[in-house]
Amino acid sequence: MKLWKGRFKKEADPRTNDFNSSIAFDSRMYRHDIEGSIAHATMLGRQGIIGAEESEKICAELKKIRNDIDSGALAIDPDAEDIHTFVEQELTARLGDTGKRLHTGRSRNDQVALDIRLTLREDCLSLIEQLRGLLRVLCKKAGKYSAAVMPGYTHMQRAQPVTFGHHLLAYAEMLIRDISRFEDALKRMNKCPLGSGALAGTTYPLDRELTAELLGFPAPTKNSLDGVSDRDFCAEIAFAVSLCMVHLSRLCEELVLWSSWEFKFIELDDAYCTGSSIMPQKKNPDLAELIRGKSGRVIGDLTALLTMMKGLPLAYNKDMQEDKEAVFDAVDTLKLCLTPLIPMLDTMTVLEQNMRKAAAGGFINATDCADWLVAAKGLPFRDAYKITGELVALCIERGETLESLPLEEYKRVHPAFDEGVYEAISLDKCVGDRKVLGGPAPENVRAQAACVLDLLDKEEKGHG
Ligand code: ARG
Repeated sequence: MKLWKGRFKKEADPRTNDFNSSIAFDSRMYRHDIEGSIAHATMLGRQGIIGAEESEKICAELKKIRNDIDSGALAIDPDAEDIHTFVEQELTARLGDTGKRLHTGRSRNDQVALDIRLTLREDCLSLIEQLRGLLRVLCKKAGKYSAAVMPGYTHMQRAQPVTFGHHLLAYAEMLIRDISRFEDALKRMNKCPLGSGALAGTTYPLDRELTAELLGFPAPTKNSLDGVSDRDFCAEIAFAVSLCMVHLSRLCEELVLWSSWEFKFIELDDAYCTGSSIMPQKKNPDLAELIRGKSGRVIGDLTALLTMMKGLPLAYNKDMQEDKEAVFDAVDTLKLCLTPLIPMLDTMTVLEQNMRKAAAGGFINATDCADWLVAAKGLPFRDAYKITGELVALCIERGETLESLPLEEYKRVHPAFDEGVYEAISLDKCVGDRKVLGGPAPENVRAQAACVLDLLDKEEKGHG
């Protein structure tokens, strides 16, 4: 039965119902819908808009409905138009006329705007928890591999030496920003739209501050038209998810590369890989690839939301029903990806010797060689750069590295060279001397990893 049947002479065509219904994707909000209705009914009672006894009855029955859905005793009717309709009809079926009083001074438009906020508030908090878990694993590993020398790349060419710990901490920084983006989005969306009505508020003397307070919002929204037609928070969250997924995708791309035979910097645990049906030797990083792939769909969700909203006049338009599938898919996808990614990183084996070998073979200490000519021998940097370039060319010609090239050869290129150059270009020294703030020196990495872990501990205690 339709909520709006008075105006209509005909029943809706079943195809209209199927097309129009949102129950398939909004029933996940049933707890939040009920929570919102309890707050609304409480406020109606306190304001004397409905009787105190009726308000109590409604609240008690709504709690029962919630318990019944929780326990499976009450199944959500897939033919209901949406979750709001279902809950209200169930209440009315149980309480008769009293149930019919719940919707006083409310519209599904402000109701749905509230329910999505309540749902996403919870989803974002649980995403933040998961992201903290990932951050913790990254920092733990970074501390452990603070001195594991690896080549740093630009243009995918070996460039200068870094450490594996330093590399992981770059991702930690991205995640810290991701977490703050979710926290920031939460702050902005944390306003209660109930009381906006369909679009123009209401003539009932609602206490919007009270409803907001009962639902844990610091304040109500300030404009009824905006209250029902704002979906900025959906787009913001979808963006926070998208950017976070872009970060995870880049990390996963590196995991895929690093676990290839060409690199062999890491080995993923068997538990997080798959085999091939035909090639017996294969161990594939499917999970990492799938996370990389799923970043595409959340960017699609964000695009869908922005495009859906951009042409809508105020206030509510049915187009907006499309918001939920997009934003819920985005948050679900991130959650889904983080779940195996955290243990996959935690259990991976880091092949330090292979990283070091790769770092030793690619002239990544050439800059340090030139810097030594400047610092120890007083040459201008441009000359030092050119001389080192000649040395590299010589090494390539002879199949040598800067470490293995004999001193006579160095001297032949420039007489200023002496034994000291070998110490200056040793990888550990090259990395160890990069103590500049934010640089890869092992002591920096250890301090930074410890600092983030410390912050996480404090936050956890604060929450606990
Ligand atoms: N299912 C609807 C949605 O998700 C709820 C709001 C319906 N309001 C309306 N006036 N038809 O947007």
